[in-house]
Amino acid sequence: MSAAADARREEVLAALVRAGDAGVSGEALAAQLGCSRAAVHRHVEALRRQGLEVAGEQDGYRLAPDADPVVPALVVPRLTPPLAGPVAWQAETGSTNDDLTALAREGAPEGTVVGADRQSAGRGRRGRSWLAASGHALLVSVLLRPAVAPVDAGLLPVVVAVGAAEALGPDARIVWPNDILIDGRKVAGILCEMSADQERVAWAIAGIGVNVRSAPDLDDARWSPGALADLGAPPRRADLLVDLIGALGRRYAEWTREGPAPITAAFAERDMLAGRRIAVSLPDGELTGTADGTDDLGRLRLLTADGVRHLSAGEVVRVAP
Ligand code: BTN
Repeated sequence: MSAAADARREEVLAALVRAGDAGVSGEALAAQLGCSRAAVHRHVEALRRQGLEVAGEQDGYRLAPDADPVVPALVVPRLTPPLAGPVAWQAETGSTNDDLTALAREGAPEGTVVGADRQSAGRGRRGRSWLAASGHALLVSVLLRPAVAPVDAGLLPVVVAVGAAEALGPDARIVWPNDILIDGRKVAGILCEMSADQERVAWAIAGIGVNVRSAPDLDDARWSPGALADLGAPPRRADLLVDLIGALGRRYAEWTREGPAPITAAFAERDMLAGRRIAVSLPDGELTGTADGTDDLGRLRLLTADGVRHLSAGEVVRVAP
């Protein structure tokens, strides 16, 4: 499909979202867009084929109450620097992190966002896959270009986790480095990827998946999956996206301006592991100890029988009740 047809389809979708429950007639849509009613009908049919529920026909078109589209043209005006778009949204892709990596290499600006309703090859941490039912999750990747040395960028996954947790509400807790749990269930996962030389970071991608309307099976035996819909009326994905990028942008700007202290303090307030006995799997075996937050480089502080260890890699595999 051509870029012009894509843009026209997005305009139809934006008009449907704006019309809300009242809906909009084919005639009014055609007049708004400066095209024929037949062309409007073709775009609506294409949206339906992508899985969007659009009711009506003769008496006008209306989005089904459950339809929860994300429309870049309606999201971008709600974003603020330093993360203000552009936003690209697809019905389906392999992995939004992979798509954004390609754009980053081509020089896309900081704040570029790529999202999708469905991923066929969504990736999680440590080579796991990340599954989500179509349209039921917020699947998004955000491009950052922090002016820091690679060693200092170790805190970035924690910056992203703090921003994401804040967007998800006061009950969201973080399991180092960046799993987000509410009521003991994992509702969001984060995959940060980076390209750097010895001196500086060229780009970093924060890939975030939030289970909004349903929780798929997790390819991660450590936690039970959860969804925001299990906790109450779920937010609209577009609203959640605006909150997520806003919170991430505020914490990211704060980190670049003030350094690590406010981030490590905010992490401590939401740290699900603090003071608990945990086991961490490392390449050379397992280490147990008491979790003691994160240091300025984003490393887990573990109080062991042999003293404090600062762990940059590794995965928390067990938490004592
Ligand atoms: C994890 O918990 O293991 C991290 C999951 C990260 C999933 C998100 S969904 C959007 C982005 N694209 C991907 O392929 N992965 C991240």
